[in-house]
Amino acid sequence: MRLHVADHPLVAHKLTVLRDKKTPSPTFRQLVDELVTLLAYEATRDVHTDTVQIETPVAVTTGVKLADPRPLVVPILRAGLGMLDGMTRLLPTAEVGFLGMQRDETTLEAITYANRLPDDVSGRQCFLLDPMLATGGTLVAAIDYLLARGARDVTAVCLLAAPEGIEVVEKFVGDRADVKIVVAAVDERLNEKAYIVPGLGDAGDRLYGIV
Ligand code: URA
Repeated sequence: MRLHVADHPLVAHKLTVLRDKKTPSPTFRQLVDELVTLLAYEATRDVHTDTVQIETPVAVTTGVKLADPRPLVVPILRAGLGMLDGMTRLLPTAEVGFLGMQRDETTLEAITYANRLPDDVSGRQCFLLDPMLATGGTLVAAIDYLLARGARDVTAVCLLAAPEGIEVVEKFVGDRADVKIVVAAVDERLNEKAYIVPGLGDAGDRLYGIV
């Protein structure tokens, strides 16, 4: 497994505003969108392309276009939905699947309540969107769904990760697939309620309110 921490002053600035508990939902949503676009730039560094020949107004030249099969972007509902536009803006040819997952706050196990994924994703680059990599339970379950459908190239885009969660994902993946995590920052630890410290609180609630 590969871990990429986006080290950029703009990422750090936007993340600081996100962390601030005084930041209201509309600003939070806007900043998540902007931050994901910056992370998507890193996450798509190895995206598959084909060579094409084109004609500029001046000469014939070769360039690249995004290759087939199209990449698959999978936001993990609910909070991952806030990351979807930022990702597809940079990856316009992507198809979008959905996984609805929530953690049982007592057992901390991931429960799946919605699953809209293609049956076969072999040969496709898959991008999972989940803002908070905390215990790793949700991300492991999501990666497992993709591996079971044939994926071998999975990139998870997260805003924040806890060291505990990274370790869990790393142990689960082993050498079964090429899995990369792109994250804006790795925080200190999890607290007793499995929230990331210092973190930014409940990402879903901060995006959409408590419903
Ligand atoms: N999910 C969140 O939204 N926040 C955390 O800190 C951990 C999990």
